[in-house]
Amino acid sequence: MTSQHQAEQLFHGVLADEYHFLERVCPAAADISRRVGEFVATWNGTPAAGALSALELGCGTGITTACLLGGRRDLRLLSVDNAPAMLRQARAAHATALAEGRLVLREADALSALGDLPDDSVDFVASAYTVHNFLSGYRHRVLTEVLRVLKPGGVFVNGDRYALDDPAAHLAATQDEVRGYFRVFLGEMNRPDLLEQWVVHLFSDESEEHIMRLTPALAEMAGLGYAEITRHFRDGVNALVSGIKPWR
Ligand SMILES: C[S@@+](CC[C@H](N)C(=O)[O-])C[C@H]1O[C@@H](n2cnc3c(N)ncnc32)[C@H](O)[C@@H]1O
Repeated sequence: MTSQHQAEQLFHGVLADEYHFLERVCPAAADISRRVGEFVATWNGTPAAGALSALELGCGTGITTACLLGGRRDLRLLSVDNAPAMLRQARAAHATALAEGRLVLREADALSALGDLPDDSVDFVASAYTVHNFLSGYRHRVLTEVLRVLKPGGVFVNGDRYALDDPAAHLAATQDEVRGYFRVFLGEMNRPDLLEQWVVHLFSDESEEHIMRLTPALAEMAGLGYAEITRHFRDGVNALVSGIKPWR
C-alpha cells in the first residue's frame, strides 16, 4: 500500500484547539453543515420501522453532528474522527445525545470505522469538510467502503470543499482565502500561530495528492457505482453532493 492510501492526522495543536475560528475565516462552513443536516432531515426514504442508522465521517468538534441530530429524533448516529483534540470538543458539545444513546463518538480513522461495519447496514453516511482532507487513494477506498456499508437505497451526503474545475478560477478563490486568513488572524486577532497553521493546512488541501475537484469527484462516484449523483448546491469551493446505493 502506498502512502496515497493512508489516513493522515492533520488536526492537532492550535488548529484543533481553536477550531471555532473556522466561523471567522470560512463563514460558508456553517451553511454547509446546516445543509447536510437539512438533507438528512428531509430525506423521505425512511424505512417503515425503526431508527435511521447513520455514520458521520470526520465529525471534528461536532458542528455538523449537531445539525444531523437536530434534524431528526429517529437518528442513531455513529460519528468518527481520528483527531483526539477534535473529538474531545465533540464529546463536551454532545454530552446529552451521548447520554441518551442517540450518538456514539469513536476515535477512528474513516476507513477503519467503515471496515468494522457489515455490508448493507447503514441508511446514511454523512460528512462535512472531511473528505477533501483525504489523500486521493485513501479517498477512493473510503468511497468504495461507503457504498458497501450503505443499505440499497441508502444515501451518501457530503458537504465539502470541492475545488473549482477551472484552475484559474480556483487559484483566484484560494488566493482570496489566504487574504482572508491574513485579515482575520493577523489584522484582527494578531495570531501569527493560527495564521501559520491555517496556511499550512491549505497547502495540504491544495496539493496534488489531496485536491478534490468537483467534476472528477462526481465521475469517481459514478465509476464506483453510486446512482442519482447530485450536486445540490455550489458556492465558490463549497458544495453539497449526494449519491445513493442502487437497489440491486
Ligand atoms: C475540517 S474538519 C471538519 C469537522 C466537521 N465535520 C465539521 O463539519 O465541522 C475535518 C475533520 O476530519 C477529520 N479527519 C481527517 N482525516 C480523517 C480520517 N482519515 N479519518 C477520520 N477523521 C478524519 C479531522 O480530524 C477533522 O476533525
